[in-house]
Amino acid sequence: MAFPENFITELTDRNDIVEVVSSYVRLSKRSGANLFGLCPFHSEKTPSFSVSPDKQIYHCFGCGKGGGVINFIMEVENLSFPEAVEFLAKRVGMPLPEETNDRESRKRARMLALNKEAARFFYSQLSTPAGAAACDYMRQRQLSPATARRFGLGFAPDSWNSLTDAMKEKGFTEYELADAGLVRRGKNGGVYDTFRNRLMFPVIDVRGNVIGFSGRILGEGEPKYMNSPETLVFNKSRNLFALNLAKKSKCGYIILSEGNIDVASLHQAGFDSAVASLGTSLTPEQARLLSRYTDQVIIAYDNDGAGIKAAQRAIGILEKLDLKVKVLRLEGAKDPDEFIKRKGPEAFRKLLEGSENQVDYRLRQVTAKYDLSVDEQKVDFLKEATELVARLPGTVERQVYAMRVAAMAAVPENVVADEVERRRKRLLSSARRAEDRQQARLDRAPPSGGKAMHYADPASAAAEEGVIRLLYLEPGLIREPGLPPPEEFSSPELGHIYAAMLEKLRRGETANTATLSEALSGEEMSLLVSLLQKPELLNRSGQSLRDYIGRIKERRDEAGQAGDLRALANRYREKKGYEG
Ligand code: UTP
Ligand code: MN
Repeated sequence: MAFPENFITELTDRNDIVEVVSSYVRLSKRSGANLFGLCPFHSEKTPSFSVSPDKQIYHCFGCGKGGGVINFIMEVENLSFPEAVEFLAKRVGMPLPEETNDRESRKRARMLALNKEAARFFYSQLSTPAGAAACDYMRQRQLSPATARRFGLGFAPDSWNSLTDAMKEKGFTEYELADAGLVRRGKNGGVYDTFRNRLMFPVIDVRGNVIGFSGRILGEGEPKYMNSPETLVFNKSRNLFALNLAKKSKCGYIILSEGNIDVASLHQAGFDSAVASLGTSLTPEQARLLSRYTDQVIIAYDNDGAGIKAAQRAIGILEKLDLKVKVLRLEGAKDPDEFIKRKGPEAFRKLLEGSENQVDYRLRQVTAKYDLSVDEQKVDFLKEATELVARLPGTVERQVYAMRVAAMAAVPENVVADEVERRRKRLLSSARRAEDRQQARLDRAPPSGGKAMHYADPASAAAEEGVIRLLYLEPGLIREPGLPPPEEFSSPELGHIYAAMLEKLRRGETANTATLSEALSGEEMSLLVSLLQKPELLNRSGQSLRDYIGRIKERRDEAGQAGDLRALANRYREKKGYEG
């Protein structure tokens, strides 16, 4: 293990799981000792995500995910084990043990250092004669020197080796440059700078690390942008451009736009909560990231077909996370940058204040699909529009929109209102049925591991789970005689969990969700946590353990005998074959 055990133990002691989870999930007490909330790992309407303060574990009855506080951070923040440890250490101000010997984390640290140096280099080029071209371009786009400084914009010179040479001088190797995507390999085996003659936008994550670059051509040309490839530290779908700045905004919402230039220009005009996805359409990971910093997103995408399509997809993704979503209509401009240049920041502010909520926006999208002067189309319009209105949670809201729909289609208000309520009833009863089914599933308490787990021998697996549970809750039982070797477990997954626990306990170490995090896969961890949910009487734990062990042996013997019988029968059949 890269981190000493006592460090991990202190870390998990100081990071109470209820506190940590509470900054992502609203937890409330329902019954018993556990707290419940909406699962952050799958989308749901009724809470099936539970946290146990006593056991310091979480478990979702819906998707089966579970673990301790470290796993939780690994899952929710998309971090590796060492990163999650670092995250939690930072959270409580614990210094990390000196020089963790983890090769990968050393490599990451080097790459981040290299990226930072490269960003400094690009920035410094702005004040050289060669950088004049980039400064001219920024002037042309009305980006001020202050904006350049705030974003750390820079210039990649029109040369094959200026970055390479500068970084080598700082002690970085060609391999490191290549891994970071800053150079490419030529045919002759040498390397050349990836970014040449471009305005450079460093991509900075929420922790302030330079993780990659996006370089725009100075003027017209193809490709307009070049981006860093995916690297050890750069993952486009999990980061957003300028979130490092936007997360500090006090305005209460985040403006989501498409282009780097749009973002720079918005910030410059005083809209300091603008971000952009990195040349891809919004991903669920990015939405989750946004939801850590805001509960309202205002979409300001380009005013073209692609932008409208992208906005619709983004709405769906954002609403799944219960974010309030509004969409801006940039009339008379192709994008936010152009809008601000043409009409000024005040006009943009007005737009923000009056920005359409997503109901208006969707209603307008539905309207645009039909020609309401044609009767059949009017019917289809009403179907789609009433369905949309029926899904609105507020009664008043439904009435207001029902009236609007009625006016649009020129039909009596009560007709639309009735239709809306009829559809609403249907929606509610099907939602209730789904909830009942879910509850029934919980009540039946399937064998652990959720839907993914199918034990070959459920009876033996139940006893194997019992052994694991007892050892977990009472590690002293490791001294009991007769513990079977892991190979004797019928389930390979349980066998692996058990083996990992034996290894720790026999060395005198602790075996819990924290210390096992590294040895077990995500699924195994979830399985462990879900089997820990089942009741276990501890007052006769020694006897219970012997019972479980006995049951495992029994099943093995039976399976063995069944195997022998099958073999016997086969031999008999073969023999008969000979004779007959
Ligand atoms: P845009 O073409 O709208 O760029 O692409 P922009 O930043 O708004 O620049 P201007 O205003 O047209 O000059 C939107 C985003 O898509 C990504 C970039 O992140 C860009 O900011 N993109 C675009 C690429 O990754 N590659 C491309 O070739 C083009
Ligand atoms: Mn654009």
